[in-house]
Amino acid sequence: MYLQRRNRILRQTPAIRAMVAETVLTPNDFIVPLFIDEGKGVETEIASMPGYFRRSLDGTVKEVKELWSLGIKCVLLFVKSKDELKDNTGKEAWNPDGLMQRSIKAIKDAVPDMVVMTDVALDPYSSYGHDGIVENGEIVNDATVEALIKMSLSHAEAGADWVAPSDMMDGRIGAIRQALEEHRFTKTGIMAYSAKYASCFYGPFRDALDSAPGFGDKKTYQMDPANRLEAVKEALMDVEEGADIVMVKPALPYLDIIREVKNNVHVPVSAYNISGEYALIKAAAKMGWINEEKAMMETLTSIKRAGADLIATYFAKDAAKLLNK
Ligand code: PBG
Repeated sequence: MYLQRRNRILRQTPAIRAMVAETVLTPNDFIVPLFIDEGKGVETEIASMPGYFRRSLDGTVKEVKELWSLGIKCVLLFVKSKDELKDNTGKEAWNPDGLMQRSIKAIKDAVPDMVVMTDVALDPYSSYGHDGIVENGEIVNDATVEALIKMSLSHAEAGADWVAPSDMMDGRIGAIRQALEEHRFTKTGIMAYSAKYASCFYGPFRDALDSAPGFGDKKTYQMDPANRLEAVKEALMDVEEGADIVMVKPALPYLDIIREVKNNVHVPVSAYNISGEYALIKAAAKMGWINEEKAMMETLTSIKRAGADLIATYFAKDAAKLLNK
């Protein structure tokens, strides 16, 4: 054959492949979700998330130091609240001495340059396991936003660099931004979970925090997996209301949404490679059906290629170690 163009020339050797790779992962891309528990010396492996742990604050601080040494710049905090502190108002969420507030302080003290983000939603504190306040079996919007404002302010007060509202109530980004301004938290960022779908893949996370909804599901606030344009609408509104970063969640079943949002906004886009996505790879690897390392890197690359500037992922530490080799 006499061909004008041989595409395989660009795939010939590792060197040329590295030179022309369009998507390159770095530890700067990762946001590391951390599950924090009360107590001391506590380290509990989450059954549905092999290799991932819920730790008390002492172990968490150690972990954050290690993450920093691997080049990771950002952690996203979640706490497991005690049952006796849960109620329908979620008021433990803005307790100045709550586990979240103590964790923010301890982490910022230990590693001041680490970007600390916090999950803002009522589910870990709700006796109903819902992201908002329940009245007559409904999750009410406006009263929940009032609670989210108090929660966000208390995180900012404790020293959080960013708040990340994951609740999907209407109007909460604008309301939180306004409250931050009024209280002069002019350096606090907002990463909005803008397009958060009502996904079955959150299961392992709800095991980790014991936060599964006690009744019904989250379909009146989280999005219908069938919808694409609605995600663009949500992201555009959140940007308008003051979000600094918008997120799509989950990641893998929604790569098209990541791209769509990326093409429509001019703020950084993050994607959450969630607990169920982690569990899929772990389980298949354990069975010997796929190569875990390769599946992890291919997955993370695909999320970045789809348009994510940042990826929240339970694989962050392992991936950073590989990238640093
Ligand atoms: C709660 C919240 C959830 C996740 C992050 N924040 C679960 C939910 O909405 O039920 C899921 C993260 C994961 O599955 O890894 N607002």
